[in-house]
Amino acid sequence: MHNGIIENFKALRGELTEAGARLESETDTEVVAALIERNLSAGMPAEKAVRKALARLEGAFALAIMICGEADTLYASRRGSPLVLGFGDGQVSLGSDTLALCGLATEVCHLEEGDFAILKAARAEIFDENGKPAKRPLKPMTATAGQLDKGNYAHFMQKEILEQPTALADTLGKYINPLEAKVELPELPFDFKEITKVNLIACGTSAYAARVGKYWFESYARLPVEAEIASEFRYRDVVIGEGELNLFISQSGETLDTLVALRHCREKNLRTAAIVNVAGSTMTREADVTFLTYAGVEIGVASTKSFTCQLMVLAALAIGAGRARGVLTKAGEAVLVQALEEIPAKLAEVLYHDQAIRALSAAVSKARNVLYLGRGCLYPVALEGALKFKEISYIHAEGYPAGEMKHGPIALVEEDIPVVILAPSQGVHLKTFSNMEEAKSRGAKIILISDAEGVREHGPGTMATIIMPSVPDIALPLLYAVPVQLLAYHTAVRKGNDVDQPRNLAKSVTVE
Ligand code: G6P
Repeated sequence: MHNGIIENFKALRGELTEAGARLESETDTEVVAALIERNLSAGMPAEKAVRKALARLEGAFALAIMICGEADTLYASRRGSPLVLGFGDGQVSLGSDTLALCGLATEVCHLEEGDFAILKAARAEIFDENGKPAKRPLKPMTATAGQLDKGNYAHFMQKEILEQPTALADTLGKYINPLEAKVELPELPFDFKEITKVNLIACGTSAYAARVGKYWFESYARLPVEAEIASEFRYRDVVIGEGELNLFISQSGETLDTLVALRHCREKNLRTAAIVNVAGSTMTREADVTFLTYAGVEIGVASTKSFTCQLMVLAALAIGAGRARGVLTKAGEAVLVQALEEIPAKLAEVLYHDQAIRALSAAVSKARNVLYLGRGCLYPVALEGALKFKEISYIHAEGYPAGEMKHGPIALVEEDIPVVILAPSQGVHLKTFSNMEEAKSRGAKIILISDAEGVREHGPGTMATIIMPSVPDIALPLLYAVPVQLLAYHTAVRKGNDVDQPRNLAKSVTVE
């Protein structure tokens, strides 16, 4: 069994076929089996045959190997991709994720980079990358089978969207002191006063959380911020100063693009921190400090509650940084913390729109293109809305900063194209209404997501309106994320798509 990519498989394949091996598929995985087989045929004992084959591999992989005639033994090794050993009830098991071992193991142990393990009966021997016997810490299995059950919900994604009020309250509870209305962070290996810049690095939905975080660190902590796509950040000749904080964001804590970027910073002795949902995952073990999100297990491939929980932690960090840097006063901090505290209840109100959005999805599911527009901190939410929509409905969607529409995407606006507008009636968002009018006058069908005042003033002539609670700026991205999640969800359900496991996508991507 192989997870990952053997990058030098073409060269190995050439070498093997030249030596007379007959390979039956085009896969990189078969090359591993063929290498082992060649070693066995040369008379090597099984363990040596496997180790020698592994030494030839380049790339990222997790492998579980069983040899014909040795059914009581499994060989395992990881490089790049995660691999977890589970122990329980007289057996040892192997999985690419702790969750996969739920019900099988009472204790788990994460293999480290380059580890090799031999599993026999209920025992496992572990060796480090230099072949020396190694001990890896055993941790109790915390996931329960109940967390993997979707109960009466039609899909995990639906369950996870609806769980957001609790997930957010749980997450916020770990980062604030409600009695004093202030942020309380775990002990930090750095002082925000000395930080000169923050680099927020992530992939997919987490990268959109990073882009929201940029607005907050700038506003509340007056820190310069770059929000970066991990796979780009790693391979650019990026200039990072010693005073900068490199903050990685990931639900799984295993995404290889993000992990490789983190390791790149570590190699250069730069400061690293991570916001991660899965405790014990690789990033939590490798970053200098981890800020966990408490979203609970997320199964749906399209991330929902993890995204809003990442936002919650980013907001708390930005406020904490602002306070430490003397940008925010105690009173200013209290106002922001109170706004965060109101989010779970306000989000529960937004969920009442579920059925209205379900009805709306009938029209939207017939579209060929959908546009999402927002400004300021709602611009990344427009991007996330479009991503969520395209990844599960398979309908093309694009998110844009509303002000930029006139510089290009307006050419896409044709009769009946749905355009989702994220625009509360406050601040810079007021400008979005004129961009909405530009689209409307060209025949777009507007779905206006705004507060009561915005809907009263700008609702007439739109296809649909969704009334959001009026909240301070800091709460906007967390609340406006919800209707776009629901629109994607209901459209995908209506189209009969596999909502929890959309085509071509994986929950945790452990290849570059
Ligand atoms: C995959 C998933 C996305 C997710 C991205 C980053 O591509 O399909 O939903 O946003 O990975 O995952 P992470 O676990 O690092 O947040």
